[in-house]
Amino acid sequence: MERIDKILSGAGLLSRKEAKEAAKKGRLTVNGVNVKSTDAKISETDILMLDGIEVNRQKLFYIMMNKPAGYICSTDDPSAATVMSLISESDLRRGMFPVGRLDKYTVGLLLISNDGVLAHELLAPKKHVTKRYFFRLEAPYDNRYTDLIEKGITLDGGVTAKPAFVSMISDTEGYISVTEGMFHLVKRIFEAAHNRVIYLKRTEFGPLKLDDNLAEGEYRFLTEEEILALKFVHMN
Ligand code: URA
Repeated sequence: MERIDKILSGAGLLSRKEAKEAAKKGRLTVNGVNVKSTDAKISETDILMLDGIEVNRQKLFYIMMNKPAGYICSTDDPSAATVMSLISESDLRRGMFPVGRLDKYTVGLLLISNDGVLAHELLAPKKHVTKRYFFRLEAPYDNRYTDLIEKGITLDGGVTAKPAFVSMISDTEGYISVTEGMFHLVKRIFEAAHNRVIYLKRTEFGPLKLDDNLAEGEYRFLTEEEILALKFVHMN
């Protein structure tokens, strides 16, 4: 059993105050009957409607993982260890999948969720969600590539990457921000700059920052603030 206002706010539809107002205006029904009080509790099988539209009560879950190397971002691949296998039975929910991919050897921030709508929005090319990575290169970075990378460097196969931003912290280490989801993008950018990435870790995904307390292979559920920040990206 769950309170009506909690269901509505949990679904991201109305705040508790707004739910109260909506009830007063006759916008809410439970099993076809208008509800007056939004602190009444209803069961899983009751049908809650807002303005005649059923409220989707499937619970949405969001996990931040610090992906370790050697795991692939897939829900089921019998030939390889997947990131999903790192989630305990009790935390795993039906329909969960990695939102965006990190390649097998890349570590760091990975979002895992059962929220298909949000995933679709976050991954949509038009949203330009920024992904930030820490990288280590095989050879010292040649600054002469910076302009090219910032304009959009041409990758193998002739595709041009969108502008990306590099900030070095030593000869061989730095951060790069990209907005595309192209496979092996960062590694391909540095290959085009005649170098090679030997370590890659995602530290940011849109508004999310990798929690320093998570060791590789560990995960935690997102906080309310983090979920709201992601939804804000989704709305804009
Ligand atoms: N770029 C890469 O090369 N690998 C990733 O996993 C993500 C971006």
